[in-house]
Amino acid sequence: MITSSAVAAPTVRRLQLTEVERDALGRLVDAFTATDRTADPLSFAERLPAYAVRLPERMREFLGQVRADEAPVSVISGLPLQALPPTPLDWTAAAAGVGRREELLLVLCGLPLGEPFGWAAQQGGRLVHDVCPSPTMEQSLTSACSASPLSLHTEDGFHPCRGDYVALLCLRNPDAVRTTFVRLGSLGLPDKLQKILQDSRFRFLPDDAHVGGACAERLRADPDGTGLGPIIFGPREHPYLRFDADFTAVSDGDDEAAAAMADLDERLSAATESIALAPGDLLFIDNYQVVHGRASFRARYDGTDRWLKRLNLIRDLRRIYATADTRSRIIR
Ligand SMILES: [Fe+2]
Repeated sequence: MITSSAVAAPTVRRLQLTEVERDALGRLVDAFTATDRTADPLSFAERLPAYAVRLPERMREFLGQVRADEAPVSVISGLPLQALPPTPLDWTAAAAGVGRREELLLVLCGLPLGEPFGWAAQQGGRLVHDVCPSPTMEQSLTSACSASPLSLHTEDGFHPCRGDYVALLCLRNPDAVRTTFVRLGSLGLPDKLQKILQDSRFRFLPDDAHVGGACAERLRADPDGTGLGPIIFGPREHPYLRFDADFTAVSDGDDEAAAAMADLDERLSAATESIALAPGDLLFIDNYQVVHGRASFRARYDGTDRWLKRLNLIRDLRRIYATADTRSRIIR
């Protein structure tokens, strides 16, 4: 169910897989694992493109159109999940090998939209991340929080190679915890505000999920080195944004920019939509047009908590290669 305040057009583009398509997708995963027992997504990501061309035809058409139209938010429902182990208590437990089949499924289904990549500083440099609540992290500003909402943000907005899409595969969500989002196109910003937000008067800092990372530490040590940039940018008729209220700053004394940021934050809160993902739902968020977050919830830590697998997708890996000066999917 979608809730919306002030949006008339369909917000989320949807595809429901049929039983036949679900079975075919399951067999495709089986076919890959029968010939390639690689457990590491970084390795199987290199070989999966040959299988992605065999995805069910309606899936390929759907994702091709999502990409061509720059659809802001899309969901494919009915992905084939098998019996799952208990929800882990943190990503390190998940990294030990639980949910590998689901990671393969996520990478496979994301390939028509973009290339998977990761960050050396995030979850030990893993390509596919686990999103689950962790004890002691309830109030953190990371996806492991639960008691506090995860505020609206662009994923990795501080970095020029941030993903074009964030993909979230829902494995478990028994309390129907809602993923929140706002589309820039739904805001209808006044011209004066939009113009300020288009000025290079904002500084984008690495978020707490990047603590310890080489690139994030460089930026923290020399915040001025990040330069100032705009929150809203790109084509006039179809602009993009990057924003994270917790990690966006303005120069000392630039009260007008600070007020514009606060105004935007308020408008985003007022325009927030949400979706409760169900097991087998695969959500794609366009990270150039949509900020996303999550409602608060009470974690039980009994193996039944909400559990998602997350993947960053970039349209062109060469953006990363050229920036990092090395041919790796993992940004250091
Ligand atoms: Fe996020």
